[in-house]
Amino acid sequence: MAEPARRRRTAVLISGRGSNLKALLEHCAPPAASAEIALVISNQPAAGGLAHARTAGIPAAVIDHRQHEARESFEAEIEAALKNHSIETVCLAGFMRILSAGFVARWQDRLLNIHPSLLPALRGLDTHRRALEAGVRFHGCTVHFLRAEVDAGPIILQGVLAVRPDDTPDSLAARVLTLEHRCYPQALELVAAGRVRLEGERAIIDGVTAPDLMLINPLPEPG
Ligand code: GRF
Repeated sequence: MAEPARRRRTAVLISGRGSNLKALLEHCAPPAASAEIALVISNQPAAGGLAHARTAGIPAAVIDHRQHEARESFEAEIEAALKNHSIETVCLAGFMRILSAGFVARWQDRLLNIHPSLLPALRGLDTHRRALEAGVRFHGCTVHFLRAEVDAGPIILQGVLAVRPDDTPDSLAARVLTLEHRCYPQALELVAAGRVRLEGERAIIDGVTAPDLMLINPLPEPG
């Protein structure tokens, strides 16, 4: 019998409700998935997402940044946990601590993040309100490799949606989140399957096609 393909051991770092963690866990549950979620780390003891790890029977560690005087020791504890669990890839999923340049460099090209905007537009927080204020007609989410600069790094995959005239920050956030739950598992799958390589700061994905799609928002008037 053929050896089953080795799955990429992946940790997910969270701070809150963990809906992206849940989507990643669901994607990785079948043995055919290229990644295995082997560890969940939360810096918040009360993070709702920890329950998803427990339900899935995945080891979950709370590493509370408030128990550390310096970021170095907080990150050293995270790295020790990653090492203990032989983690190869790390996904940030609503992890609300900024990682040091050293940490990011050590995990270069093995550290993924999801951001709720079409990067490089709207880096930072509160993206849905800022998208509406800017009057953009399209919005979405980006999965990218992390670099030391916040919300920057090679783009793996993006999801886009049309902004509606009656959208509020909340309605937009809800639709983008649904999109995130489709995008993050797909991006991790591509990375874990070894299909993503970098040319400079551009991520190239083997064997994918782009949708043949052009959109205008608002819809052009007939005639
Ligand atoms: C998501 O919107 C993600 O893009 C951002 O933080 C949020 C996390 O949500 N980085 P959840 O904890 O995965 O539900």
